[in-house]
Amino acid sequence: MSTEKTAKIKFYSGEEIPLELHKVRIVQKLHLVPIERRLEALREGGFNTYGLNTTDVFLDMLTDSGVNAMSDNQLAAMMRADDAYAGSQSFLRMKQAVKDVLGKEYLLPAHQGRACENILAYTYVKPKGGIVPTNYHFTTTLAHITEYGGKIVELLYPEAFQIASSQPFKGNMNVEELEALVKEVGAGNIPFIRLEASTNLIGGQPFSIANMRQVRAIADKYEIRLVLDASLLGENAYLIIKREEEFKGASMERVIKEMTNLADIVYFSARKLSSARGGAICTNKRDEYLAMEPIIPLFEGFLTYGGMSVREIEAIAVGLYETWDESMICQSPDSIAYIVNELTKMGVPMVTPPGVLGAHVDTGAICSHVPQSQYPAASYAAALYLISGIRGMERGSLSNQRDENGNETYADMELLRLAVPRRVFTLSQLKYVIDRVKWLYDNRKLIGGLRFTYEPPVLRFFMGRLEPTSDWCEKLVKQFHKDFGDSL
Ligand SMILES: Cc1ncc(COP(=O)(O)O)c(C=O)c1O
Repeated sequence: MSTEKTAKIKFYSGEEIPLELHKVRIVQKLHLVPIERRLEALREGGFNTYGLNTTDVFLDMLTDSGVNAMSDNQLAAMMRADDAYAGSQSFLRMKQAVKDVLGKEYLLPAHQGRACENILAYTYVKPKGGIVPTNYHFTTTLAHITEYGGKIVELLYPEAFQIASSQPFKGNMNVEELEALVKEVGAGNIPFIRLEASTNLIGGQPFSIANMRQVRAIADKYEIRLVLDASLLGENAYLIIKREEEFKGASMERVIKEMTNLADIVYFSARKLSSARGGAICTNKRDEYLAMEPIIPLFEGFLTYGGMSVREIEAIAVGLYETWDESMICQSPDSIAYIVNELTKMGVPMVTPPGVLGAHVDTGAICSHVPQSQYPAASYAAALYLISGIRGMERGSLSNQRDENGNETYADMELLRLAVPRRVFTLSQLKYVIDRVKWLYDNRKLIGGLRFTYEPPVLRFFMGRLEPTSDWCEKLVKQFHKDFGDSL
């Protein structure tokens, strides 16, 4: 197993670009369809990038979930999967990997990350509701906790909401507010504290180990369990190595263990953490394990597969060990840093410092002329797809859910996430992204708003359908032809 550090590779020219430390051996053909077809595809998909088919998408930057490139060793491991309903050797290999990499003895498999959230909320929130303090919510986490009668309270420092910042750990939990909250509502009303490694919805921003230790101290003082959402653990650990003095030059293995040792319960989406498809909850506490165990066969499947295919279980086991390899983990954050730094130099407002998972465009600033009630981030997502074939994901008010009275709850930030899955895109593709984002920035005044034609009651950003509030898409098409002629 490679535990290679990222060598500092310098170019004679002085250029700073992410260098791919892998070779491409299986490829998938991509198509860049004409802008007229892209407009039709938007109409068919309800102006929601989730509604697009991949045949109409050139660069799919919707997410890293389940679309990171797998390694040769993961694919090889899938071939030796042990198909068994109970007692599969594949599961035992995953259990061993969880023990080695995450340092946890007991393992509960689930079909993906949100299934883990369902199990946690079912076990700890459903009995008597309560408040879950978190550094920031994730869409599916919030949906499960509120579904079972709980509430989320987000505790961050003010710099987390400064889009352009040099604060290295914008995902840090506000520990002073955490302690005040515990005193106010009582520890008994807090089923667990949730820390999300690299807060997904506010630009993939990491927390530091120093901060996690402070959260742990409060959890210990008031005897509250600490749950770590480790879906983006590898990348958070990588940024700790780069940005936290105590861990400069430390190994990924050490930093990951340091983080997971501080949590009572760790869960993850294996679609992210191990470049496969599935999820799991793990702990060293037998009582916590026993509290959740009966729910696995109810919602997921038997305890040795939990709704996952054994092939994926094998890939997860290998993928977990590969998380130790800094030269693999660095690929996505270094590419993101490249996109963010180049666009920032060009004057395009981006979330800084660069985080993990994706480059985040500040569409709130770019589309300041589009009111939040017309979903500026979703409008920008549709516009960017239209002029480039690049599919990003709205991370703004459309991704929020309405309050209990049916009112909109506007997002703290209106962002477009351009996900950079691990080892999927090449440098020229990243340059294309930068080029088209800059063009759209220069033509930003042409972007208009969107309104719902169908708004689902739960997780509306997935299935919602919208339409433009004016003929702004046609105007963008006209401007595109003016500048690019017959280019695709
Ligand atoms: C931080 C975080 N937690 C949980 C999830 C949910 O995981 P899944 O998509 O596997 O259900 C995600 C998915 O993107 C995530 O980013």
